[in-house]
Amino acid sequence: MTQDELKALVGQAALKYVVPGEIVGVGTGSTVNKFIEALASMKGRVPGAVSSSNASTERLQALGIRVFDAAEVGELAVYIDGADEIDGRGYMVKGGGAALTREKIVAAQSRRFVCIADDSKRVEVLGRFPLPVEVIPMATQRIARQFQALGGTARVRLKDGVPLVTDNGQHILDVTGLQIREPLAFESEVNQWPGVVTVGVFAHQKAAVCLLATARGVQTLEF
Ligand code: 5RP
Repeated sequence: MTQDELKALVGQAALKYVVPGEIVGVGTGSTVNKFIEALASMKGRVPGAVSSSNASTERLQALGIRVFDAAEVGELAVYIDGADEIDGRGYMVKGGGAALTREKIVAAQSRRFVCIADDSKRVEVLGRFPLPVEVIPMATQRIARQFQALGGTARVRLKDGVPLVTDNGQHILDVTGLQIREPLAFESEVNQWPGVVTVGVFAHQKAAVCLLATARGVQTLEF
């Protein structure tokens, strides 16, 4: 099975976690794009979605799915999103699509995080994927030095040769060389560094369930 087929498989499998009659939280990325396509088949049965990025909003709306502002609605039953890495406890690294801040906000607003991923994302220790961190641009150099003190190397994410600008008007640092053995403590610490908007470790907003696509089918991991 190709990676695209694996993503389609979990995108479809996630439909069973969507609660009819309830607004669904929708993440960002190529796996979520498959879920959005599948969600179109449930259009009449859900009022709509809260989206975690401009990119997902465009896709949802193009398929006729209503998008609600997170601030207009209360708690969501479920949030469905991909991950760049997930460990055996449901802790994740996210932000490969630069949408980590809004993803964390919608995840925090939801009772249940259902992660959809292919088995290449499953790791023992978080840190293999460069850790995305959304930062206020004036703090970039200092935050990079703070990561250096932890053994990491931080680089500003570029797009077309210039710093990528997120949906929130900020920049992304991608940090390599870390081994994140205590995700809860790490997330808490980095989040309080001045200038950090959001760190891409999702430990406080971890997955409750992960639908992992493998060549043998979808594996369901519960945490
Ligand atoms: C975007 C994310 C994505 O969930 C993550 O990058 C996984 O994306 P994909 O499904 O394309 O592999 O965190 O900010």
